[in-house]
Amino acid sequence: MANEGVQNELVSGFSKKSKQEKIEWIANKCFSNPTQAKEVLQTYWNSDEQLQNLHDEFIENAISNFYLPLAVAPNFVINGKSYVLPMVTEESSVVAASANAAKFWATRGGFHAEIVGTEKTGQVHFLFTGSHQSLTSFFNAVKPTLLKETEAITKNMRQRGGGILAIELLDSTKNMANYYQLHVRFETADAMGANFINSCLEQLAQTLQNEAANYPHFSKTEKQIEVVMSILSNYVPGSRVKAWVSCPIAELGDDGDVLAKKFVQAVEIAHHNAYRAVTHNKGIMNGVDTLAIATGNDFRAVEAGIHAYAAKDGNYRGLSKARIKKDVFWFELELPLSVGTVGGLTKLHPMVQWSHQLLQNPNAKELMQIMAVSGLAQNFAALRSLVTTGIQKGHMKMHLLNILNQMGATQPEKEAMIKHFTTNVVSFNAVEQALAAWRKN
Ligand code: MEV
Repeated sequence: MANEGVQNELVSGFSKKSKQEKIEWIANKCFSNPTQAKEVLQTYWNSDEQLQNLHDEFIENAISNFYLPLAVAPNFVINGKSYVLPMVTEESSVVAASANAAKFWATRGGFHAEIVGTEKTGQVHFLFTGSHQSLTSFFNAVKPTLLKETEAITKNMRQRGGGILAIELLDSTKNMANYYQLHVRFETADAMGANFINSCLEQLAQTLQNEAANYPHFSKTEKQIEVVMSILSNYVPGSRVKAWVSCPIAELGDDGDVLAKKFVQAVEIAHHNAYRAVTHNKGIMNGVDTLAIATGNDFRAVEAGIHAYAAKDGNYRGLSKARIKKDVFWFELELPLSVGTVGGLTKLHPMVQWSHQLLQNPNAKELMQIMAVSGLAQNFAALRSLVTTGIQKGHMKMHLLNILNQMGATQPEKEAMIKHFTTNVVSFNAVEQALAAWRKN
């Protein structure tokens, strides 16, 4: 058999093995030094057994933990209230950039943010073979039943001010033969709402099929609605938040007018050029994702929705806007966001809970505003560096400790190098040479 070698590597019933058995299997099968491989996994276990167990139960086949640093960025003033932001990231310069931008704007009126909408969407994608007219009549007739049969699922959410806002029938037969959708709009209050939305959609799909099967005006074929899938959409243009900063250009610093002008040009370039826009938006996501992870939100959903929004007119564009009007600099970011402050990991993961407490237990709308501000702050810090000193100066300075750790530097060596590089430009070579020279002396 051609793939006999591969077959020998396959394992069945892996998820049924105990954690220790999984570790043994992995270490022996995949590592040249199984003892060392097991030691690494063990080093990252939490000594608190209960806590470790909690983490093990988050996902299937958990065999250890994977740490990312949690940092804080103080001095964020948002709508007149001050915040310290929790940030989870592996990238050395991100937190410093946030902290700098926060401090800069704290004395210039702070950040402002407002919610543009909080509506989410889900779809039942189905195939219907028959007359469009009779499907429309059927849909109008069964709409109350569709809603009624979700009532047990929506009860709690309705008590919290959410629920199903509207159900529409969309004809997509131009795109694919017999393809229709139930396009459903939701309000999910402080929850991100993925489970709620998906449960509602699956119920709607079931009711749709049952009702069709019994609808007296349908032909035999029409009675057989074929549901392809029912799933929420992570594209959430109806759930948007806007954040902005503004100050007289004279307050931007010594060369405020030059900075403002180049800043606006940089934003314009990201509007027109997709290569630049992707990196521009990646910088924004540095601020958004760090907070999404710290607050236990699904950063992949957030990323997917935001990038789709960046391409909403058919071209991928930068998400922020900047302008100078009557000598006042204005910088703004509008993002689609669907995040939760209840449900998911929020009450389970101790560090997530801690992050929510640090943020003064915001509701979902407040968290959306904080996340948009965090994205704007990152974008501001990146563009300010890019159009003035260049990005590498600050970036490499923050990367210095990583380089020194890679070179096995001791604590006194690190201190000496940090001092040396306050006045010298950091590069891998420069650090290598300076460290060698210091070690010689
Ligand atoms: C690096 O993580 C992010 C930047 O590249 C963003 C940008 O170029 O705007 C600095």
